[in-house]
Amino acid sequence: MVFFGDLQNKALSEKVAGKLGVKALYPEVKEFADGEIRIRITDAVEDTDVFVLKSFASPVDRNIMEFSFLIDCIRRTGANKIHAVTPYFAYMRADHMFRTGEAVPLEVVITFFESVGVKSVWMIDPHSIKIPEMFTVPVTATNAMSLYANTIQGIAKDVSKVTLVTPDMGGIRRIKILSEKLGGAPFATIEKNRDLETGQLEAASVEGKIHKTCFVVDDMISTGRTIMEGAKALLKMGAEDIYVMATHPVFAPGATSALQKSPIKKVFITDSIEVSSEDRIKKLEVLSLDELIASYIADPSSS
Ligand code: R5P
Repeated sequence: MVFFGDLQNKALSEKVAGKLGVKALYPEVKEFADGEIRIRITDAVEDTDVFVLKSFASPVDRNIMEFSFLIDCIRRTGANKIHAVTPYFAYMRADHMFRTGEAVPLEVVITFFESVGVKSVWMIDPHSIKIPEMFTVPVTATNAMSLYANTIQGIAKDVSKVTLVTPDMGGIRRIKILSEKLGGAPFATIEKNRDLETGQLEAASVEGKIHKTCFVVDDMISTGRTIMEGAKALLKMGAEDIYVMATHPVFAPGATSALQKSPIKKVFITDSIEVSSEDRIKKLEVLSLDELIASYIADPSSS
């Protein structure tokens, strides 16, 4: 087995390689003056199963191309099977046509991604339940709820007196899994309205009993508006300590400083995307996916 790490997330790559007891390999990447890139590998991959770790973080399109060229190098060098480990897959929110005349970017990216020779995919907390079904190759889609359940148990003495919250209806399945892991901890849902023209959003209504301590769980934080709107609505309903758990720290410019100033007490994220030093605010705590990824790579059939 051969493991290629993510050049944009070396910290996670090295942790995974350490757990597997292998060396993380990286491709040579050269960028030309016009922005085109050339990728090359010099390691032996003939007749080997190859696992490639890559999150499609910003710059998204560049990372998709870099990954695709790397897969092409590996395939042409004679690898046996190529497994993509893509904790954060791009364009997940664009999984259908919202308005007439729009493209379905996720479908296009999946078609392209599969065409270069990927034979299986691992991902965590995809935006919606239907995403794995959009691929033709086998997809292992897992979630970070066991990491969140452990963290919540470390904070709350009695999990029956906290409220788990999904900041939009799309997260209901996730929150139910988490509640089950915590022995049926109470949960609430927020209905979010987003204006498709302006991107403006508001937390329209909250359903469920709100305790003083709330854990808001989402798949990703981009601008931070979803969770900050959610937090506002929860405070109005009597919440006092609001913790956030979100798997993919996409962090658009300005998101982390707004989170630091917000009434949210702590933000737990995973290392699916490496957070830049400017975004490492005091409130942030990173939970690592190293164990989950290493155990999948060690035995893909067990997931
Ligand atoms: C949306 O449906 C997702 O689950 C997230 O809630 C959303 O993408 C987060 O984006 P932002 O942080 O920009 O509100």
